[in-house]
Amino acid sequence: MSSIKEKIDKTRLPKHIAIIMDGNGRWAIEQGYDRIFGHQNGVTSVRETTEAAAEIGIEYLTLYAFSTENWSRPQQEVDALMELLIDTIENETPTLNKNNVRLMAIGDLSRLPGNAAEKLQRCIAVTSENTGLALVLALSYSSRWEITNAMKQICTEVQEGKYTIEDITDELISGHLTTKSIPDPDLMIRTSGEERISNFLLWQIAYTELYFTQTHWPAFRKDNFYQAIYEFQQRERRFGK
Ligand code: IPE
Ligand code: IPE
Ligand code: MG
Repeated sequence: MSSIKEKIDKTRLPKHIAIIMDGNGRWAIEQGYDRIFGHQNGVTSVRETTEAAAEIGIEYLTLYAFSTENWSRPQQEVDALMELLIDTIENETPTLNKNNVRLMAIGDLSRLPGNAAEKLQRCIAVTSENTGLALVLALSYSSRWEITNAMKQICTEVQEGKYTIEDITDELISGHLTTKSIPDPDLMIRTSGEERISNFLLWQIAYTELYFTQTHWPAFRKDNFYQAIYEFQQRERRFGK
């Protein structure tokens, strides 16, 4: 029996896959637990997906872990998520190094609690020389925050005479986003059935293939990830041509 992984054409892999990891709360409630339990189990899915991406040879994997709007959740849930972030980064750093994974982060990291930001920067620093998969965590991220920031920066640079209005191009804008060194996603996956983008990478997904699955994030495993890649490969991308 051939597995879904074997059906993937390794010569036509998406370079960058972005995931909206949704449904932790619903997954937990369905089983009679509290939402936090869902977040805790979501860590296993992060580990599995990162491993799957590294194994098959994906270059960039971006995970939407916490949105700007998620700061408005009950304080107890926000605290639990931040704690989970700190513990996970701490525990997983050796594995990231072992698997040649480089950690990156996008978002308004200044809003993270001090110890979370510190652990994150440390993990980014100690994995920075790795040459395999780039794992990008979107933390306190929202696309409108990012675009607003880029606009402010560009306006300042125009005022300072670094650019003229005519210099403002597609590329210049891309170069002022937090994703400036990262290619646009080829594939975006959202788990748990909602078919919306929730303020994630709005500029970058202009021609990204969208893939929605009913599977809740804590139940998402390697084969779910490979299935998404396989279905991506059945599509024809025309880029308006
Ligand atoms: C995704 O799961 C995790 C975060 C947004 C931090 P949710 O917490 O959104 O779970 P649901 O969507 O309410 O089930
Ligand atoms: C999107 O999920 C954000 C993350 C996965 C981090 P949400 O659960 O916050 O989005 P909505 O509220 O369903 O749009
Ligand atoms: Mg949700």
